[in-house]
Amino acid sequence: MVKSLAYMGVTSPALAEWESFGPEVLGLEARLSENKDVLQLRMDDRHHRLAIHRGERNALLYLGWDAGDEDSLGTCFEVLQRSGVTSRWGTEEECWERQVLSMVVAEDPSGIRHELVSGQKVEPKSFRPGRAISEFVTGEQGMGHVVLAVPDLKAAHGFYTDGFGFKKSDEISTFIDLVFYHCNPRHHSVALTQIPGVRGLHHLMLEVADIDDVGLAYDLCMERSIPISMTLGRHVNDQMVSFYVRSPSGFDIEYGWGAIPVGANWSVSQYDRASIWGHKMIAKTPPGAFEAVAP
Ligand SMILES: [Fe+2]
Repeated sequence: MVKSLAYMGVTSPALAEWESFGPEVLGLEARLSENKDVLQLRMDDRHHRLAIHRGERNALLYLGWDAGDEDSLGTCFEVLQRSGVTSRWGTEEECWERQVLSMVVAEDPSGIRHELVSGQKVEPKSFRPGRAISEFVTGEQGMGHVVLAVPDLKAAHGFYTDGFGFKKSDEISTFIDLVFYHCNPRHHSVALTQIPGVRGLHHLMLEVADIDDVGLAYDLCMERSIPISMTLGRHVNDQMVSFYVRSPSGFDIEYGWGAIPVGANWSVSQYDRASIWGHKMIAKTPPGAFEAVAP
């Protein structure tokens, strides 16, 4: 089944802002596609992890999931077909654009596009961070996690658990309800919250290997007056120390360190708060690259 979050694509009018925000603040490596319509942001030796497609509005375009080898991808396709999920094999052109060997395209119940892939291109020893950082925590844990708004949590739960093989990590109930899911040792690769009539991306989390990388990013945001959405804090469930900054595309980036891994004897918990300390909301508007969904 799904092994990790391989890549993510959004559409945005803010390519120029990302060209400085990505490398200079987050430490990502940026390169423009040949036609200059896609800014590809790198976190490691994978070809790219975050793709910003030039477009008129901010929206989540697709999530790419590493499915392992081609036999595993074939099994994923069969499972999706049996679960009644609309899915098909990706074309040669789609595979070339994402720099993968093969792809299955599936749509979740809210209409978000998912790409299950095998053979993402790797360029050994090529990653050059945009600023001095230790490293991003990727490998078997993938590029990070996403928190998504979905119009129907029950339908989404079935898709991620039955269709993709995710396991529930835990739940947090505050002024919103969040359900967290893992597919590898990362505490969650996806978390879901229900917002009636809405789908899209709330935030993307990127994890760094040293808490000083987080502190330096925080300083850079302060120096450049880049809007912090939530102050430094530690989450109750994955115990990540992080802060949230508003990206040029409306969704937040959670920039964090120190999350605990999910082990073999993991037991599901519930919490009534999101953080042990910190994470005070200071943004005037909620984050998100959201779209309305037809009822
Ligand atoms: Fe998060």
